[in-house]
Amino acid sequence: MSRILLTGATGLIGGAVLHHALTSRPVSEWVCLVRASDEEAGRQRIAARLSRFTSTLNAQRLAQRVEIVVGDFTQADQMADPRLDSVTQLLHLAADTSWWAHEKVHRTNHGGTLSLARRAMRMKRLDRFLHVSTAMICGSGPPAILDETRYPDPEAAHLVHYSASKAAAETSLMAGFADMPLVVARPSIVLGHSTLGARPGSSILWVIRACDRLRLVAGDRDGTVDIVPIDWVAKTLVEMLARPDLAHQTYHLSAGLKSRTRWSDLGRTLDIVDPDDIPRHYDEFDASDRAALLARYTAVFGMDEAIKVAMFRALQAYYRFCELNVTFDNTRLLSEGFTAPPPLSDYIGRCIETSGDIIDQFHEDFGNLALAPVPRGERLPRTRLPLTDGAAVLDGTAGRNIARRGTASA
Ligand SMILES: NC(=O)c1ccc[n+]([C@@H]2O[C@H](COP(=O)([O-])OP(=O)(O)OC[C@H]3O[C@@H](n4cnc5c(N)ncnc54)[C@H](OP(=O)(O)O)[C@@H]3O)[C@@H](O)[C@H]2O)c1
Repeated sequence: MSRILLTGATGLIGGAVLHHALTSRPVSEWVCLVRASDEEAGRQRIAARLSRFTSTLNAQRLAQRVEIVVGDFTQADQMADPRLDSVTQLLHLAADTSWWAHEKVHRTNHGGTLSLARRAMRMKRLDRFLHVSTAMICGSGPPAILDETRYPDPEAAHLVHYSASKAAAETSLMAGFADMPLVVARPSIVLGHSTLGARPGSSILWVIRACDRLRLVAGDRDGTVDIVPIDWVAKTLVEMLARPDLAHQTYHLSAGLKSRTRWSDLGRTLDIVDPDDIPRHYDEFDASDRAALLARYTAVFGMDEAIKVAMFRALQAYYRFCELNVTFDNTRLLSEGFTAPPPLSDYIGRCIETSGDIIDQFHEDFGNLALAPVPRGERLPRTRLPLTDGAAVLDGTAGRNIARRGTASA
């Protein structure tokens, strides 16, 4: 029987993984490494996350079926708990996903991951360490269609410290743990659930809805964004754990050419599922044109509350990601028989049905955005990718705070 150690079970994707696994692959044992005061508190945190996918009662039942190891994965190499020794697969999802608190993000995502890898080296039965990275390790200048071979690249210029820390983790894992059965999964942008919509978490949906409400597309209105639903990511990760053989070490978990989202197509879908001033027409703008964005934003949302100011600044940053117009090639995954994700247009209606106001959604996502990314023109220094834990990766000083609700200023 497989015995799977999961980090990040209380997070967006971790909850989806656990829900999918416990309802579809009940023969495996799941061990969750969770931050909590004790095992029962950890179990309750997991039940709370699972309840976004099912009834409270069922979530409680499912949570009873997992083993809880209380701990912080960044200290994993100091964990003597013998329950970890018999793990056969490890799915490492836990990360600091905030965009800017760079030292902490680096310490967690790079240093912490190496600590977990050192502990994994003592798991004698381990046959897969599935590390979840991000396709956004490409930084700000990827080609239009990107396969898995080009990055991580020490020369990449990152838009945010988060992606730099994930790139550093991948590089150090590959270089320092050659004997570990490492596979890297790189999801693109994870948004919504293909049947539950925004219920498990509305993260990033507000961005798409705000771009739509503004009728502004950064770059080309026929450009694309690579978006995948959370349940597809979860199912794919669980299947990757179960496959005894995978042909490659690194995989994009992405929409790819078949399922990517073209703004113009999305607009036609939204005309149907969210009819408002139809047919929609999106104006194009350069994401560096702050004045154009500010004028449109002020007219549509207003700038009369601190939360709206904060949302404006976060949106500016997201527009820079949207402007990348990159498709993450998923040929590797599909050619090994994994199913393709549904395109966003298939389930955006469900997301909208199950979501509230755009500004409330932004507020929910605000934790990750408490600090602003690098203003355009002030590039982060080139990423140095250290092979040893603890070394500094970035020396970025260019960030300015997005102040918390109540104190923000444009
Ligand atoms: N969401 C996306 O669009 C996306 C796209 C590409 C890649 N990814 C990657 O997918 C993974 C999961 O993302 P997500 O969106 O699910 O993140 P999330 O919702 O922010 O969840 C992060 C998880 O990591 C845990 N964690 C953080 N620091 C920890 C620590 N020191 N010790 C133990 N647990 C810790 C959190 O636990 P607490 O609850 O205790 O804080 C939480 O369970 C990440 O590696 C991320 O880089 C996400």
